[in-house]
Amino acid sequence: MTVLKQPTTAFVPTMGALHAGHESLIKLARTLTDEVLVSIFVNPLQFENVDDLAKYPRTPESDKAIALAAGATQVWLPTVDEIYPEKVDLVDSGEIGKFFEGAARTGHFDGMLTVVKRLFELTAPRWAIFGEKDFQQLFLVKSMITRFNLPIEIVSAPIIRESDGLAMSSRNVRLSPEGRKAAIVISQGLSKATALQDLALARTTLTDALSNEPLFTVDYAEIIDEATFLPADSIETNNRAIVAGWINGVRLLDNMAMSRVSL
Ligand code: PAF
Repeated sequence: MTVLKQPTTAFVPTMGALHAGHESLIKLARTLTDEVLVSIFVNPLQFENVDDLAKYPRTPESDKAIALAAGATQVWLPTVDEIYPEKVDLVDSGEIGKFFEGAARTGHFDGMLTVVKRLFELTAPRWAIFGEKDFQQLFLVKSMITRFNLPIEIVSAPIIRESDGLAMSSRNVRLSPEGRKAAIVISQGLSKATALQDLALARTTLTDALSNEPLFTVDYAEIIDEATFLPADSIETNNRAIVAGWINGVRLLDNMAMSRVSL
C-alpha cells in the first residue's frame, strides 16, 4: 500500500498488538484532525536479540480492526523492504539513549529513532502521537525533532491504567495471577513518591515501596528532570519518577510526574 503524505495527518506509529493504550493515542490523534494514520511495523532494529523479535506478537487483522474502530482513517503495514530499502544510517540516540532503558537494551534507542525518522520521512505528518508510558522514548523523539529540525509536532498522550493502577502494556498478559497482583506495587510506589516535595525522601520512599514486594526485581527507580532526563537536583523543575523492573521475567515500566512544588 502506498501511504498518502498529507500535511494534515496525525500519525500514530505502533508495533501492533494494539490495546487500550494505543486506542487512546488514536482517539487523541482524532481530536487533532480527521486524517489519522496508524502504522504497524515490528522494527527489527530495536530488538537486541532475534528470539525477542521472533516472539513479538503479530496480530495484524485484529490490530487493523482496533485501529479503525478507534478512529484511524488509514492503517499501514509496511514491509521491511519498504522501510529499509537500502543500507540505512543509524540515528545515534546519544548519551541519554544509553541510560535507564538504554542500559538494559543495548542499541534499542538507536534502532527506535532510526525507524521513527524513516517513518516520518515516508509519511510527513503534521503531528505524531507518542505515549508517556515510554517516557524516555518520548524524550528522545522530541530531541531528534529538534536535532534534525523536523516540521512535526510531537503530541504526548497520558498513560492509561488498569483499575488498580497498573500501567497498560501488551506484556501484562504474561504475568501469573500472583505476579499481576504484585505488579500494583509499581504504581503505588510511584503515587507515594510523587506526592512528596523533597527529592531525597521521594527517592527513598520509592525504593522502599518497591523493595517491599518480593516478586518485583527493580532495574532502576529514579527521579529525573524532564528537561534533561538526568537525575533531578531541584524540586522546582518539572520532575518525573521512573521505574523499571521484572516480575515473572516480564519487564514492566512505569512513570509518574512529581507534584509541582508550591512556592
Ligand atoms: O513505541 C513503539 O511501539 C515503538 O518503539 C515505535 C515508536 C512504534 C517505533 O518502532
